[in-house]
Amino acid sequence: MKIRNFLSVMTICCAAGAGAQQLTLTPNNIDDIVAAMTQDEKVHLVIGCGMQYSDDAKFPGTAGLTYAIPRLGITSVYLADGPHRFSLAAKRPYDSHVYNTTEVLSGATLASTFDQDAAFAIGEVLGQEVSDYGMDVLLAPGVNLMRNPLCGRNHEYYSEDPVVAGKIAAGYINGVQSKGAGACIKHFAVNNQETNRNNNDSRLDQRTLRELYLKQFEIAIKESKPWSVMTSYNKVNGEYTCEDIDLTEHILRDEWGYDGMVMSDWNAGKDGVLSMIAGNDMLQPGSEKQFQDIKAALEDGRLDPALLDRNVKRILEFVVKSNTYNKHQYPNETDLKGHAGTVRRIGAEGIVLLENNGALPLKRNVENVGLYGVTSYDVIPAGMGFGATGRGYYSVSMVEGLRNAGITPDKELVKKHTAHIADEQKRLYPQGLPSFSLTPPKRADELVPSAEELQAQAKANDAAVITLGRTSGEGADRRREEFYLTQNEKELLEAVSAAYRKEGKPVVVVLNICSPIETASWKEYADALVCAFQPGQEIGNSIVDVLTGKVNPSGRLPMTFEVNYGDAIADAYFPADYEFKMPDFAMGTNANFENKEKKQAPKAPEVNVDYTEYPEGIFMGYRDFDTNGKPVAYPFGYGGSYTTFDMNIEEAAINGYKCVMKVKVTNTGSLPGREVVQGYVSAPKGKLPKPAKELKAFGKTSLLQPQQSEVITLTWPLMEMSSYNEKAGEWQLDKGDYKWHAAASSADVKDSRSVKVAKAQKLKAPTKL
Ligand code: BGC
Repeated sequence: MKIRNFLSVMTICCAAGAGAQQLTLTPNNIDDIVAAMTQDEKVHLVIGCGMQYSDDAKFPGTAGLTYAIPRLGITSVYLADGPHRFSLAAKRPYDSHVYNTTEVLSGATLASTFDQDAAFAIGEVLGQEVSDYGMDVLLAPGVNLMRNPLCGRNHEYYSEDPVVAGKIAAGYINGVQSKGAGACIKHFAVNNQETNRNNNDSRLDQRTLRELYLKQFEIAIKESKPWSVMTSYNKVNGEYTCEDIDLTEHILRDEWGYDGMVMSDWNAGKDGVLSMIAGNDMLQPGSEKQFQDIKAALEDGRLDPALLDRNVKRILEFVVKSNTYNKHQYPNETDLKGHAGTVRRIGAEGIVLLENNGALPLKRNVENVGLYGVTSYDVIPAGMGFGATGRGYYSVSMVEGLRNAGITPDKELVKKHTAHIADEQKRLYPQGLPSFSLTPPKRADELVPSAEELQAQAKANDAAVITLGRTSGEGADRRREEFYLTQNEKELLEAVSAAYRKEGKPVVVVLNICSPIETASWKEYADALVCAFQPGQEIGNSIVDVLTGKVNPSGRLPMTFEVNYGDAIADAYFPADYEFKMPDFAMGTNANFENKEKKQAPKAPEVNVDYTEYPEGIFMGYRDFDTNGKPVAYPFGYGGSYTTFDMNIEEAAINGYKCVMKVKVTNTGSLPGREVVQGYVSAPKGKLPKPAKELKAFGKTSLLQPQQSEVITLTWPLMEMSSYNEKAGEWQLDKGDYKWHAAASSADVKDSRSVKVAKAQKLKAPTKL
């Protein structure tokens, strides 16, 4: 209702200005256009026009748009959500056309490819679909670091490491933007939990902020120039990110040289005027209150009109890039088949082989498979959220994937699971499944066959495949217990494993998960363990391509799998046990915040809910486990193959401001395969503590035939080996011997070289946050 009123106000304002000017916006007359705009028009432009979910929107099911001023040739720019799908309603009323879009890989699977080209190809798919359906901007990628395995949006994000996240994001953005669509990198910054996301204050020191939580933004922004940046909901050190001038103006623009447009997350922050001053150019989805507040601030002098003009100018620079402004003639259909092929191929490249005692690739004589786990039938192509998963137009189950490969899933098991899932759905949702939800569906119990049934199944089939699933979504985090298997899942594993092993038949376990789970206590029940995360709509095909060996796995974990929740220092500083009730709408607040709003006495701020400390500092993820010598289930960067590789450093040198390491990789096994070279650096002892080693670059070979070699050249800027000295406010590179490593994971260094930095160096970072 509110938004409708607001829109009618806008229409009137717009009509009032009609005919006043003859100017029409072009990329070269933006200053003139700003000068010709009325103050109301400017205020409208810096505020969105409401969400576009309803059927009567031009693009139903999308997140928003910018304000159009036809008298000046200023068109709207249409914004749709990502990252794992271009989120557009498939159907429109009175329209027989179907607007299907492709559910691509979740962020976690995409990052597991450790391949910037793969990210580019996925970006191309999304960018093409955005342009083909006449839209402008994809609100993606999401690049926040996976600080904790329970964060509800980890599936959208890439990694615990900023180099992996930054490089994958750069590939994705370049892909999207190569197709005429714009990208919007999000959520800037330190948005690492969903619990009370609108108000949580992330408290961390400057060094941690700059070396970890901003770094991936910096890398991606410099390598791909996204059209826009979305600030986040949370606060950083007490200030909402959209209202923080140091973050948006000083660091993003002055230090990194970003010249695109910055928008808020949907209904983020509290004070639209502060956002304007901070250089958060546009407020989305916009409200009448913001419109009135900004006008009042202009009138009483709290907002300098020059700052409003600055923001307006940046929005107009954004407008002139768009398909809509450029009158892009769009076909309103897209190459869904071709895109599905890309998703299948890259989905398989992102699958990580965690264990294999020879069970994989499945032997040629494996013709019949006993398929267990409700997730085998009810697969999870990607996580939940405004990326709108669950609304993809199809997903290939494991049943279909196996059948496509000529393998027959046990018919009786298929029948039983189909009935079981239907019963479970009735039990869990007596009123029927909700048509749209941001949060994950309730999980069905596993179907555990009786000992006799299992015995017969193990005799009749050649192998067992068990899929275990976990999903999560926007607006809520996972709870500690979700890191562990349920009793029911353990029973299934143990029973299937015992029955098939008795018959000498292999048991393959597939993880279709949003984020790490506990594996150490039960992995012995599996002869092979494969982690697919959530590889998109072709999930069954991608996984089976790896199981059969059609694709030799080359995925590597972009995060550490810890043995137990709590092993990482950061785990204690996360709402792992907090019962957070997702508000009806994602932009809700927690009770404490509402108290403040109602001017009631506020409760004392609640740790990990109202604020979250980051006392682990830079010792997060492998930087913690590696430096502190703690055991892990699977280290960062880990992943197996059906072949073996050798890695040797051929050259390691500093050329001016560039570090170059050339690594020769040889396939020493008997099958073609791809290897990921991970370049880590161990710094000499200097003024500040350093992690045992840090990833600086990575590269992936092409498909190497047995005995074939390829030289991978890794490069990184010299200053990337420096540390941020908070006291001095500068990046400092110590002199001394740096150890450069070529590694197959953070725990598997294959070759190292010492490289000397002769002279200490400093780089001034002009601002503090
Ligand atoms: C999410 C953003 C999203 C926006 C628009 C917010 O709830 O945090 O990632 O782009 O909604 O749908």
